[in-house]
Amino acid sequence: MSLKRKTLELLKRREQVQMGGGEAAIQKQTAMGKLTARERILSLVDKDSFHEYDLFVEHEARDFDMDKKILAGDGVIIGTGTIFGAPICIYAQDFTVAGGSLGLMHARKITKIMDHAMKLQVPIIGINDSGGARIQEGVNSLAGYGEIFYRNTMASGFIPQISVILGPCAGGAVYSPALTDYVFVVDKISKMFITGPEVIKSVLGEEISQEDLGGARVHSEITGNAHFFAESEKECFEQIKKLITFIPWNNQRKARTFKSKEPRKSYKIDEIVPGDPKQPYDVRDVIKSVVDDSDFFEIMENWARNVIIGFGRLDGETVGFVANQPLVLAGVLDVDSSDKAARFIRYCDAFNIPIITLVDLPGYLPGVDQEHAGVIRHGAKMLYAYSEATVAKISIILRKAYGGGYIAMNSRHLHADFVFAWPGAEIAVMGPEGAANIIFKKEISEAEDPEKMRKQKVKEYKEKFANPYVAAAKGYIDSVIEPEETRKFLLHAIKLSSDKNEDRPRKKHGIPPF
Ligand code: HXC
Repeated sequence: MSLKRKTLELLKRREQVQMGGGEAAIQKQTAMGKLTARERILSLVDKDSFHEYDLFVEHEARDFDMDKKILAGDGVIIGTGTIFGAPICIYAQDFTVAGGSLGLMHARKITKIMDHAMKLQVPIIGINDSGGARIQEGVNSLAGYGEIFYRNTMASGFIPQISVILGPCAGGAVYSPALTDYVFVVDKISKMFITGPEVIKSVLGEEISQEDLGGARVHSEITGNAHFFAESEKECFEQIKKLITFIPWNNQRKARTFKSKEPRKSYKIDEIVPGDPKQPYDVRDVIKSVVDDSDFFEIMENWARNVIIGFGRLDGETVGFVANQPLVLAGVLDVDSSDKAARFIRYCDAFNIPIITLVDLPGYLPGVDQEHAGVIRHGAKMLYAYSEATVAKISIILRKAYGGGYIAMNSRHLHADFVFAWPGAEIAVMGPEGAANIIFKKEISEAEDPEKMRKQKVKEYKEKFANPYVAAAKGYIDSVIEPEETRKFLLHAIKLSSDKNEDRPRKKHGIPPF
């Protein structure tokens, strides 16, 4: 046979396998409002950049009539490509082929592309759409999952790992996304749970739909398993592409730099934060008034909203923001917001992204619920994450910084590199009302007019402590700055920190309060 004819045969074979589970299965997929695995990859990567591997892999299962079944590509597509020119490795489970179920060869394809990503030191993106462990392949399927989890752990902090849930992701399968850095979900399409509605009904007698149990909204608003929520697959791919522009390819690099752009003039930094410490405001406006082009890319927007995390750029360079959000619960730290911030701090530290912390909080959230939910253990994660981090750590105290919250939000005492405060900053063990009530209890109760005395003592306390100058006098704050000077100070601090180097004691690893 001539090479030409052999090439034609290749094209025919290729075409056959690329049809996945066939017309009917593709129609079913489309009817569910889902793209096919191949369409998903092609929508995500740069045009003509996708290169596929292991297209002709076949399963070797023999039980339960599997020897009579041909499963195209064994239900998963793997390959490499680029996103805005950045190299990535990618896999997408193909639900049209045996429900995207994971057998031995399917798992081997995934682990192969993960190994490839590790060797090439580029991000790995996994698109999940699967009925889980391929039941006919028994323990081989479980082995496959174990091998994926192991690689997720090895890759953690070395290359970025992105999971996209575009269909069912049930049972133990959920633990691969849970081990990765970012989980993307799409409304009505994503379903993630350990035990499905049928099991819950048979064991507990409770009825619940897949959507209410583990749909996209559940994971982006209640559980905190998802980092990005989208209304459609298209929107989801746009979010992934944007994320890729903010993060480096691996832990030895820095993120790509872009052309610097001044923040938009519509954000007036000196008009955002009210003077009254009890008045709320949206801290995202402060972030937008300092970052390039006022472009802030928020992560976990709908979960633990009392703390804000996300990326922006300063002079073209990626920086991570951790900020208390006075709009929600006055910006307190609690169990979930501590988890949210601590994990992000560790991400930034692992991938050489400077961290900017904006402080305005009354402290940790008091109450039996929080104590019993483990606010001590979870709150400690913040202290650990900031103390451990060796990237540039810059804090700006915008207003309140009380008690443990003051220490936890990247204070000088956790070895922040730069601590700046606005003139309205109040740094104290607690708010003036609470403090005056405790330390002047006797004077107030014995006074002729206790209320008048209380007000006078609150005023005295405020004059003494509710300002940045006591902390500045001790060197705990480096500079008290005008709000308008914030961007200038940040740009300078980031520039100066480009070669920052800080040693840590030699050890295998620390034991953070997981
Ligand atoms: C083998 C599977 C499969 C599986 C689906 N299919 N899941 N084949 N193993 N796990 C096949 C179906 O037989 C069917 O094949 C095709 O995929 C499409 O499935 P449907 O059921 O027709 O699709 P749909 O109605 O959309 O339902 C999707 C589903 C359901 C909700 C995912 O298929 C389902 O409940 N599957 C089983 C889920 C599950 O229990 N998985 C095991 C979890 S335990 P045909 O040939 O008819 O087209 C697990 C342990 C991992 O994963 C542990 C790791 C530590």
